[in-house]
Amino acid sequence: MENWNFRKVVVPREEMPEHHRLKQTLSWPHLIALGVGAIVGTGILTLIGVGAGKAGPAVILSFAIAGVICACASLAYAEVATMIPASGSAYTYSYVVFGELVAWMIGVALILEYTLVVSAVAVGWSGYAAGFLNSIGMGLPDALTKGPELGGIINVPAIFIIVVVASLLIAGTRESATLNAILVIIKLAALALFLAVAFPVFNGAHFEPFMPFGFPRTGESGHEVGVMAAAAIIFFAFYGFDAIATAAEEAKNPGRDLAIGIVGSMAICVLIYMAVAAAAIGAVAYTGFADSPEPLALILREIGQPWAARVLGASAVIALPTVILAFFYGQSRIFFTVARDGLLPGKLARVSSRGTPVRITIFTAIVTSVFAGLIPLTAIAALANAGTLAAFVAVCAAMLVLRHREPNRERKFKAPLPWVVGIVGILGCMYLFISLPNRTQIFFIIAQIIGMLVYFAYGGRAAEKARSNA
Ligand code: ALA
Repeated sequence: MENWNFRKVVVPREEMPEHHRLKQTLSWPHLIALGVGAIVGTGILTLIGVGAGKAGPAVILSFAIAGVICACASLAYAEVATMIPASGSAYTYSYVVFGELVAWMIGVALILEYTLVVSAVAVGWSGYAAGFLNSIGMGLPDALTKGPELGGIINVPAIFIIVVVASLLIAGTRESATLNAILVIIKLAALALFLAVAFPVFNGAHFEPFMPFGFPRTGESGHEVGVMAAAAIIFFAFYGFDAIATAAEEAKNPGRDLAIGIVGSMAICVLIYMAVAAAAIGAVAYTGFADSPEPLALILREIGQPWAARVLGASAVIALPTVILAFFYGQSRIFFTVARDGLLPGKLARVSSRGTPVRITIFTAIVTSVFAGLIPLTAIAALANAGTLAAFVAVCAAMLVLRHREPNRERKFKAPLPWVVGIVGILGCMYLFISLPNRTQIFFIIAQIIGMLVYFAYGGRAAEKARSNA
């Protein structure tokens, strides 16, 4: 075999020990539901307000920029995921293409991404849950709905929803995936309702001035604004299709199903977001909903449709957990795969008789609850984005390297114009990364340094041992 370690990474199912095999239960409708379930969430429901505060009406442009970059990454993902249909997503692709050390760094970035997305969406859920409870006269004390940095004590609803989703996952993948599909429909119906109610009061004057804070981040005051600063946060709204790739080993027909799942769910979401952003700003000037914990519900109340706000709030409360579920699921698969390669303790890779890795799920629930309970949404989302951007750069680069190194290997899905797509993906993600707040970039680098220390103290040697025992 050529100079890449495909065989070593993609162990044929028949050759895996029983307790390392995940059940193959998912087909493409499940995967699209998993994709849309993971993509449409706190980004469009809540961070749209943060983005509008940073970019003004030009947040629409921020959506377009982040969407194009994500579309490139999703094409690269689809190509590489169908060539390497193994659990572990960008971590596994990096292992195959760049070797163990880069794979470990991407593994750290992914674990950061998945952990923080679970926490961020739980905080977003809490915003809508608290708003909904308020609207029916059962509001919680403020101190129990946000962390200390925003003047509260702890975000109790955010922790509550994490515990609920973790329990669902422990109950078994298949049941969760089917429930997920129903919740996805509720979520899309809520956004359709928003469009139907907000578009009739569209006012073009709300788009003037279009770009009040300029294009690149200004940053002098330490408060990053502008179209790119907003795009770097709004980027959060677009990813999630990568969670499908982490389900590769559980797909019935990975070649076809993964490509349909990834590209299909991405395309659906880009269209919906552009429409929602236009309807939101057209209905209420951006200053009216910037930085609200539940901006879309607020807009509906502002335009005199409190019933629609309540329906939207209730739908968010019921359906946002699909995002938490998808990332929880992805997180446990990343841990599972890294541990299976010997880079983390093997006990973590054990799956229960129901086919779910219970220990990792419980561990993830504890860590994500701490973040969600104490840290504000924007800070969590920005750091999640940093991890995701690193993973996307790796996947785009992996696609290009494989095109060069393995031009004749079978590709079940081929990205169109691969060099354009790959290079736009890589440069775009880098531009978004440097547009993130400085604090986020520093935290990301610290996480990578800690990751390196763990690698040299434990992971590298343990993996070596696992290989020599194999
Ligand atoms: N794209 C997902 C969301 O917006 C992470 O919630």
